[in-house]
Amino acid sequence: MAGELEALIDEMKKARKIFVITGAGVSAESGVPTFRGKDGLWRNYDAMQLATPEAFERDPVLVWEWYLWRRSLIAEAEPNPAHKILASWEERYPDFLIATQNVDRLHQRAGNRHVEEIHGNIWETRCTRTGQVYSPEEKEVRGDHLPPESPAGGLLRPNVVWFGEILPTGPLERINSFLSSSNPNVCFVIGTSALFYYIQSWAVTVKMRGGLLVEVNPDTTPLSEISDFHLEKPAAPALALIDSLVSGSTPDS
Ligand code: OAD
Repeated sequence: MAGELEALIDEMKKARKIFVITGAGVSAESGVPTFRGKDGLWRNYDAMQLATPEAFERDPVLVWEWYLWRRSLIAEAEPNPAHKILASWEERYPDFLIATQNVDRLHQRAGNRHVEEIHGNIWETRCTRTGQVYSPEEKEVRGDHLPPESPAGGLLRPNVVWFGEILPTGPLERINSFLSSSNPNVCFVIGTSALFYYIQSWAVTVKMRGGLLVEVNPDTTPLSEISDFHLEKPAAPALALIDSLVSGSTPDS
């Protein structure tokens, strides 16, 4: 494995700019279930039946119960070695950005500051009437008071992006400006099924402009075939291997 990675390791040693796209798989080793597959099932519902505006309109209590369950798992979760290695890379590389689909804040808890949350944040809520966003301190949501209401009398929803909704403009603009100011040397796509067009588009753009595209995922995705490297391993051991080879220490896997 190490030999096959030589070109990547050479590039990482001289790289200045790294772009990382993450999905649920990077938090799987912290105990947060992914969305697709049997892992994502909750009371026999899957994410596609719950993470939609239609589901919320039909049954806001059910959707909130699911989010409170996910929040309870996330509250107990700790950043895993994959998060920590990404935090150390932010120290090492002068230009570094993570675009995450995760709403769990584990990248920030591991120490990353340059993180764009393209699917929002599970701890915040938003008023469906006014659009105002509330921090958890401002508006606590409890299981015995569902569905929660905002001070303006509207229904409160989790401040996350659901299927069919548009992405928040701030993170999008910052990601676009990061990608267009100069091309990243390497784009990592870690732990995501990469089904959304914007994920594919960012990865393909970096590759077309000459950057290396590296996928870290035990499974294949639509990006696997065009990736320069596909590490078919869980995120923590895969990133530990790359990190040890780049820093010159002995890889243990
Ligand atoms: P998915 O659940 O679709 O995909 C998780 C990916 O992680 C799969 O490709 C797995 O093979 C991979 N995986 C599992 N364990 C892993 C590990 N230990 N290390 C590395 N990879 C691993 O999650 P996302 O791609 O994040 O959106 O899904 C994207 C979005 O769909 C989510 O943000 C959420 C979901 O519905 C919304 O809620 C809008």
